[in-house]
Amino acid sequence: MITSTRAPDGPLETTAVLEREHELRVVDASLADARVGKGTAIVIEGEAGIGKSTLARHAAGTARRLGMRVLRAQGGELERGLPYGIVTELFGGLAREGLSGELFAGPAGAALPLLDPATGAGSVAVPGDRPDPVAYVHGLFWLVLNLTELGPVAIVVDDAQWSDEPSLRFIHRLVERIDELPIVVLLAMRPEGDSPESNAARLLRAHRSARHLVPAPLTEHAVGDLMASVTGRPVGDGLRRTSWRATRGNPFFVTELAAELARPGAGRLDPDGLDATVPDRVGRFVGLRLAALDDPARRLAEAVAVLGESATIRRAAILAGLDAAPAVEAARRLTEAGILDDLAITEFRHPIVRSGVYASIPVPVRSALHRRAALLLADEGVEIGLVGTQLEAAEPAADARVVDLLAAAARDAVARGEPGVAVSLLRRAMTEPPEPTMRAEVLANLARAEAEAALPDAAATYATVLTLVDDPARRAELRRELGHALLAAGQWAAAREAFELGLAEGA
Ligand SMILES: Nc1ncnc2c1ncn2[C@@H]1O[C@H](COP(=O)(O)OP(=O)(O)O)[C@@H](O)[C@H]1O
Ligand SMILES: [Mg+2]
Repeated sequence: MITSTRAPDGPLETTAVLEREHELRVVDASLADARVGKGTAIVIEGEAGIGKSTLARHAAGTARRLGMRVLRAQGGELERGLPYGIVTELFGGLAREGLSGELFAGPAGAALPLLDPATGAGSVAVPGDRPDPVAYVHGLFWLVLNLTELGPVAIVVDDAQWSDEPSLRFIHRLVERIDELPIVVLLAMRPEGDSPESNAARLLRAHRSARHLVPAPLTEHAVGDLMASVTGRPVGDGLRRTSWRATRGNPFFVTELAAELARPGAGRLDPDGLDATVPDRVGRFVGLRLAALDDPARRLAEAVAVLGESATIRRAAILAGLDAAPAVEAARRLTEAGILDDLAITEFRHPIVRSGVYASIPVPVRSALHRRAALLLADEGVEIGLVGTQLEAAEPAADARVVDLLAAAARDAVARGEPGVAVSLLRRAMTEPPEPTMRAEVLANLARAEAEAALPDAAATYATVLTLVDDPARRAELRRELGHALLAAGQWAAAREAFELGLAEGA
């Protein structure tokens, strides 16, 4: 048993990958197959901490060593509503590279507006040229085909359970044809118990040619080895058995437990009392570490958790109310405490740690931080979709600027052919609520987005807008829009009535 301990110097380190021979073999074989033109999809599935990212990193690293082009993206809990977020992460770099000309030749050109901020999705919505999600997916598919002309490709998406829907549709399309292409698509995802799963994710999982990997919990033996390598000391039978039981062989929890045991004053953590449920226990580790930190470090961690993928040290410092130098110092302490990653200090060591920090922020504080983050990002002119995701996480505060930004994010979503996302942004805008003078306009946009998303709510929303608008020309236009929505829904009689009322307004 470990009684007295010495803190490990520097960040928490883990050793080689244990007990993953089968998974590594499958990954290596898939990469070899792809290089001779026979592509595969690999779906790695398992709970948080079981070792998916570790395998994904191995795949990306090996592919790169083999001379393959590696495109990577990571789903983010906050960013899952951002249409084509994953696709932009995968291919955005290409649009900026010198290669972009040839890559976007032919049908691939249809994808360019999604990826190139210069042409920007917002600018594709010229009248008569409706954004077409099918064309986007087709263009992206051709982009990948063009890319394979230059050599084999590995596409690695980690935390794919948080992918946005349109990106998953594209990946699904690619996987359908993958066995004829020099490509490996690797998706690492958690099985999602609580949230409704997307169709695309379900299809991918069931895909006939996908290789499905489900990393198993580590055996008691491997748990002992991992503990020993993190603590730097031999681990006796008793501790090994308790740790295995308490961590259920989950490698992340093993490394957390080991790091906690190796900390000064670790006596307070009784390994025999560690049989609580897994998430609770990690919540406790994160809580203990946060509690041991000073106020600036804690505030910085909270800011990073709120910013999500938009986190930079500058933005986090502003949100935390810190100057640059103290912020960097705080980040260093957070890295030492195993909260932030040692390679990318504006990322958490693990999404579980982010969740722990995020959950520790009182809701009103969190909400205010999201709002300030949104305004900060908007001032910097970052992609409007990211501003929208921040605002959706902020409580309403009757702020006209917030309404404007949500409306702008909704326009962008419509331009990307995702009216469903626009509906959610505009509903959020209505709760802010808008100033009375803006209410009709926001509602009219909501009605139009609902109609485009083929939601039955559209008719009722149009009816509400009509109670707010006096101008006959505008009323006629609204009735015409409503008529078209009803037509599209196959409600001919109601559509006819709407058109007739519209004509009467105009008269
Ligand atoms: N097979 C393994 N052997 C040893 N350590 C592992 C293994 N798999 C994961 N780890 C360690 O466990 C932690 C969590 O792994 P990670 O790959 O991030 O899990 P996931 O992505 O499934 O949440 C990391 O610190 C990693 O180094
Ligand atoms: Mg992971």
